[in-house]
Amino acid sequence: MSNRRLPLVSTEVPGPRSRRLIGELQEYESPAITARQRARASRGYHDAPIVWQRASGMLVEDVDGNTFLDFTAGFGVATTGHGHPRVLERATLQLATLNHAMGDAFPAAKKVELAKKLAAITPGALQRSLFGSAGFEAVEAAVKTALIKTGKPRVLVFDGAYHGLGFGALALSGYRDRFRAPFLAQLNPHVLREPYPYCYRCPYGLERASCGLACLETLRRRLAHPASGMEEIGAILIEPIQGRGGVVEAPLDYLRGLREIADERGIALIADEIFSGFGRCGAWFAVERAGIVPDLLCVGKGMTGGFPISAAIGTDDVMAGWGDSLGEALHTSTFLGNPLGCEMALATIEVLEELVPEGVLERGRALRAGLEELGERFPIIGEVRGAGLMLGLELVRDRETREPADREALGLCKLLLQRGVILLPAGIHGNVLSFTPPFIVDEEQIGYLLEVLSTVLADRAWA
Ligand SMILES: Cc1ncc(COP(=O)(O)O)c(C=O)c1O
Repeated sequence: MSNRRLPLVSTEVPGPRSRRLIGELQEYESPAITARQRARASRGYHDAPIVWQRASGMLVEDVDGNTFLDFTAGFGVATTGHGHPRVLERATLQLATLNHAMGDAFPAAKKVELAKKLAAITPGALQRSLFGSAGFEAVEAAVKTALIKTGKPRVLVFDGAYHGLGFGALALSGYRDRFRAPFLAQLNPHVLREPYPYCYRCPYGLERASCGLACLETLRRRLAHPASGMEEIGAILIEPIQGRGGVVEAPLDYLRGLREIADERGIALIADEIFSGFGRCGAWFAVERAGIVPDLLCVGKGMTGGFPISAAIGTDDVMAGWGDSLGEALHTSTFLGNPLGCEMALATIEVLEELVPEGVLERGRALRAGLEELGERFPIIGEVRGAGLMLGLELVRDRETREPADREALGLCKLLLQRGVILLPAGIHGNVLSFTPPFIVDEEQIGYLLEVLSTVLADRAWA
C-alpha cells in the first residue's frame, strides 16, 4: 500500500467484509452511531459505510483490500497525512517511554514542551494552554475560562456553528436543531444565538458587495439595547470558518468588528479553530488572516494527525481568571496533557512547519482552480469557497433560487466512494461537498479527484 498514490477499488463498495462488520456493529454498538445498511439500488449505491483497516498518507485501505483517497483527512485530523513516518517514529518511542502521566498532579515533561510550542506558534499574547482530549472539551474549557474571568454568564454563539456534542458544547452548537431537541431540558439556557455571516445565504437578504456588513451593525444595535440581556454576555464564541456548517467563511472585517465589540464591552472573544487551525486555512490560524488575536483559541483535530488531544489557549490576562491552583485543580481530566498526545503534537507541528503556509496555499490553489472550472461547467455548483485546503462546493437545484441540493450531495459522495474517493457532505442543508485533504495531497491525486467528480457530475445517476 505504501507505494500507491492513487486508489484501487476491486470489490463492490462497501465490500462483503465491510458489510459483515457493519452488520455486527449494528448488534453491539448504540444504534445512534453507524448508519444502518440499506440497499439503494435505484440510486446506484449501497447505503453502508466502508470499514477502515489501515491508512498511509492520502490513502486509506478498507477491510476488503480496496484503497481510497481520503479528501476529508479523517474529519480534518490527518493534516500531515495518515501515519506520517516521523510522527509514527516519535510516537512509538514515546509509547515505550511514558504513555500516561497525571495531568494536573504529576505532569509529563512533554506537556511543558508542547505548552511552550503552542505559545510560540499561536498569534499575539496567546500563551497559556488548558489541555483536554476531544475538541468539545477545549470549547467547554474556553467558555468556563470566559465565565470565571468576566463573571458574566451569557455566551453569544452563531447559527450553523458546530462546537461538539458534550452537554456544554451542544448548547453552544447551532448546527442541527435535532441534535439539541431531545436534551433541551438540560441544556445551558444562557446562550444567545446570532445569524452567522453566511454571505451566500445572507440572513438579511443582502449582497456582500453592497451590504456594508449590516449584520455587524445589527449585532452592535442589539448589544446596545438595554432590555436585551446582552450586558450579561461574557463570551463571544465563533468559528472564523465554519467547517461542519458548510465551509462558510466569516468576512475578515466581520471578525475585526467582533474583536472591537469584545474590547468595548469587556467580553472574551473565543475563536474555535478546531477545524480551521494548524494551517488548514493556509495560515497557521484563521484569525491571523483577519489580523486579530482572540482572548481564547480552541484547537484539536489536526494538531496530532490522529490522537485525541485538544487545548484552549488563552492570554495571561484571561487565564488569570482561574486564580492559582491550590493543589486540587478547578478544571482537569484524567488524560490532561497525555505525553503520547503531546509528543505526537510536537512531531506533527515539526512536519507542519515544512508545509504551512506555502505548501497548503499552493495545493489549495490547484484544488480550487479545478473546482472553479467544474463550477463553470455544472450549474448544480452554486458556489466554490473556502481558504487553503478547507474548500467547499455548495450544490443547488437552481442558481437563481439557490434551493439546496442536499440529496444530490449525499448521492454524489456515495458514488465518489465507489470510485475510490472519500468525501463528506457538510452544511446546515447538507448540500456542501467539503474538501479538507491532508496537506501532502499531490497534483496527480487532485487531478484524479477532479476527473471522477467531473464524471459523476456529468452522469446524473445520483440525482
Ligand atoms: C469547529 C469545531 N469545534 C469543535 C468540534 C468538536 O470536536 P470533537 O468532535 O473532537 O469533540 C468540531 C468537530 O468537528 C469542530 O469542527
